Amino acid sequence: MDAEARSHVDALWSAGDYALLAARLEPAAHTAAARVGDGHGRHALDVAAGTGSLAQALAERGWRTAAADISTRLVEEGRHTCAAAGLEVGWHVAPLDELPGEPGSLDLVASSFGMIFAPDPSAALAESRRVLRPGGALVLTTWPHDGYLAHMTAVMGTFLPPGAPVLAPFLWGDADVQRAWLDPWFTDVEVTTHRLPWQFDDVDTAIGFLFDASPGHLAAARAVGDRVEELRSAVADHLVEVNGSPGRVDLELDYLLTHAVVRP
Ligand SMILES: C[S@@+](CC[C@H](N)C(=O)[O-])C[C@H]1O[C@@H](n2cnc3c(N)ncnc32)[C@H](O)[C@@H]1O
Repeated sequence: MDAEARSHVDALWSAGDYALLAARLEPAAHTAAARVGDGHGRHALDVAAGTGSLAQALAERGWRTAAADISTRLVEEGRHTCAAAGLEVGWHVAPLDELPGEPGSLDLVASSFGMIFAPDPSAALAESRRVLRPGGALVLTTWPHDGYLAHMTAVMGTFLPPGAPVLAPFLWGDADVQRAWLDPWFTDVEVTTHRLPWQFDDVDTAIGFLFDASPGHLAAARAVGDRVEELRSAVADHLVEVNGSPGRVDLELDYLLTHAVVRP
């Protein structure tokens, strides 16, 4: 990734109240950590780690854990949070195609809703393979290509000019596409579906959360300029339709958990 693209993505993910989003995603990090079990001193790297929910869950399970993310702000926050929790996690500012770590040095590369933002999925997977030892594992969570978040992102996309950058990581959530991307480097691919409940008092609160916490929504809001209220209304109307009412929101977000092993 060149310096200009890197600084753009850093700025994008450093905007907004990320702690709110991290809290909503955290249960999936625990599911991913449970899938790989206790580390017994083995080495793990959480990539596109944000503030490190998965890194923390792994460190708590005895993995010797490092974490990397492109956002300088989120890395700083993650470093402080881990230190405050008394967890030894080594933090790095690094994009997905330049991971910290010597070739073959790690037992696990993990990413919770992070690797899905790689501009080049194959490059990110090849880089993960580079740092993994033979027999090492990859664990990922991804959003399905046909779930609420994918549909809502498509609604936002109708407001953006052609060619405007939209965060659209949902191809990872097509299990066949994901398996094809993994295939050159990983085998024994296992994909299971899990559920993340997102509840809000009402649709207005949910829309407030999305436009305060989600970098994708903030970027779309900046891109549409004076149509921002129209954008918010369209996202709200879509949510009312999905939810069945403007009142209490009970979303059950499906996500995929992938576990794979380095191809011998
Ligand atoms: C939805 S957040 C998930 C963060 C974290 N894994 C969690 O569960 O809270 C996506 C993360 O991907 C990071 N990211 C996006 N593009 C990246 C890239 N090209 N290289 C490294 N990190 C990236 C963002 O900075 C952000 O922290």
